[in-house]
Amino acid sequence: MKIPKRVIKNLPPVCQLTASVVDAWGGRAYLVGGLVRDLLLDAGALSGGDRDWDIAVDLRGTGKGLLGLLKELQNRTGGRYVFHHQFLTGTLMLSGLRVDIAHTREESYPQPAVLPEIRPAGIEADLRRRDFTINALALALSGPETGTVIDPTGGASDLKLRLIRVIHPLSFIDDPTRIFRAIRFAVRFGFEIESGTLHLMRQAITAGYPALLTPERVLYELRCICRERNALKMLEAVIREGVLTACFPKSSGQEFFGVQVRQVLDELAALVRSGAGEELLMIYLLSRLPVNERFPITREERAAREALMNRTVLLERLSRVRRRSSIYQLLRGIPVPALEILAVLSSGPVRSRLRLYLDELMHVQPQLQAADLIAAGVKPGPQMGRMLERLLVARLDRRVKSRDEELALVHRLQSCHV
Ligand code: CTP
Repeated sequence: MKIPKRVIKNLPPVCQLTASVVDAWGGRAYLVGGLVRDLLLDAGALSGGDRDWDIAVDLRGTGKGLLGLLKELQNRTGGRYVFHHQFLTGTLMLSGLRVDIAHTREESYPQPAVLPEIRPAGIEADLRRRDFTINALALALSGPETGTVIDPTGGASDLKLRLIRVIHPLSFIDDPTRIFRAIRFAVRFGFEIESGTLHLMRQAITAGYPALLTPERVLYELRCICRERNALKMLEAVIREGVLTACFPKSSGQEFFGVQVRQVLDELAALVRSGAGEELLMIYLLSRLPVNERFPITREERAAREALMNRTVLLERLSRVRRRSSIYQLLRGIPVPALEILAVLSSGPVRSRLRLYLDELMHVQPQLQAADLIAAGVKPGPQMGRMLERLLVARLDRRVKSRDEELALVHRLQSCHV
C-alpha cells in the first residue's frame, strides 16, 4: 500500500530532514506506531493537534549510530536532544514539537511484566514485537520505498475489520500494560477486541499477571485513560474485566477494595456527567485504590485522596453546620479537587454547602489588608492575625459589606482589645 506523496510532504519538516540524513548515510527511516494507524484511519489525522512524532531508523551497516543522528539533527534544527543509550531511543525537542526517534529493534522479555531486553534489528522485526496489529504499521520515509506502508502482521486489514488483535500469544504476559491498552484502543476507535485476543487477555488477568506490574506502570495507564474523551467507558471495562483488582490482588470479586463495584461505576459516571476532567477522575480512582507511600503520585493528589478517604466524618460535620463562616472554617485547607468530587457525589444540604464554599466562600476576602490595619493602629503580630480572621468571618457572614464597615469593625474590636 502506498500513501500519497502530498501526505508525506505535509509531515513536519523534521521528519523529512531525518529521512534525508538517514538516507544519505545509507540507512532507512520510518514513521511508526499510532501515527501510521491514525493516518490510515483518516488521511487528515496527522495535521493539527499536538502529538508526539514517532520515527524509527535502521542504521545497521552505516557505521553511524542513533546518538550521531540526534547530534546532527540538533545542529541542523536548533532543537535539543535527549539520548537513552540502554534503550536505543532518543527525543528531539523542537519548539512546539517532540520527536521520538528509536533504532529499529527486536525485543525479548527475560521475565513477564519487566522491561524488555533489546537488540538492533530491521523494521519487520521491530513491528512484530509490538502490541497490536493496528499499531504494527510503518510508513517508509526514505529510499525507493518512500510512501510504502510496511504491514507484516495484517494491521491494515484489522483496521478495516475494526479489530484489536495481538501479534503473538504471549503479548499480554510479556507486557500486561497491553491489557489496559487493548481496552483503551477498542473504546477509543469503537473497535472490538478480536475473540482470540480477548481470550488471551482474560487468561492473563485470571492468571494474575497484572499484579507483576509496578505501580508506576499501572498509574501511567490509568492516567492515559483518564485523559481520553471516552474515559468512563474505558474505566468501566477495566473495572468489569477485573484488571484493577488483578493489579492489586488483595481485593477480589464484586468488592472493589471494600466498596461495591456498582458504587464505584456509578460514582465515576456521576463525575464524568458533571464534566470532571483527567485530574478529578484520577484522584477519585486513587481514593479507591490501595495506594501506599511508594506510589508515584503528586503531593496534591495524595492530600486530595486522603481527604476523600476521610469523607464520612467530613460530610457528617458538614451536615451539622449552617453558618457561612462555619462552613468556611470546616472546609478551609481541604484540597479543592477533593471538595469538587464530594460536591458531585453528595446530595441535599451537604452538596449545597460544598457548592457554596467552592463557588463563593473560598473566594471571600476582607477588603482591608495588613497595611490598612497598621494604618488603623493595629500592631503586627498575633493581634493582626486575629483581627484579619474576625474581618473575614464578618465578611463571610455578611455582617460587613464595605470597606467603611470593615474599618468600623476594626475600631470596635480595638476598643474591646481584641
Ligand atoms: N507499543 C507496544 N507496547 C506497549 C506500548 C507501545 O507495542 N506496551 C508500541 C505500539 O506500536 C505503539 C507504539 O509503541 O503504537 C507507540 O506507543 P504509544 O505512543 O503509547 O502508542 P500510540 O499507538 O501512539 O497511542 P496514542 O494514539 O495513544 O498516542
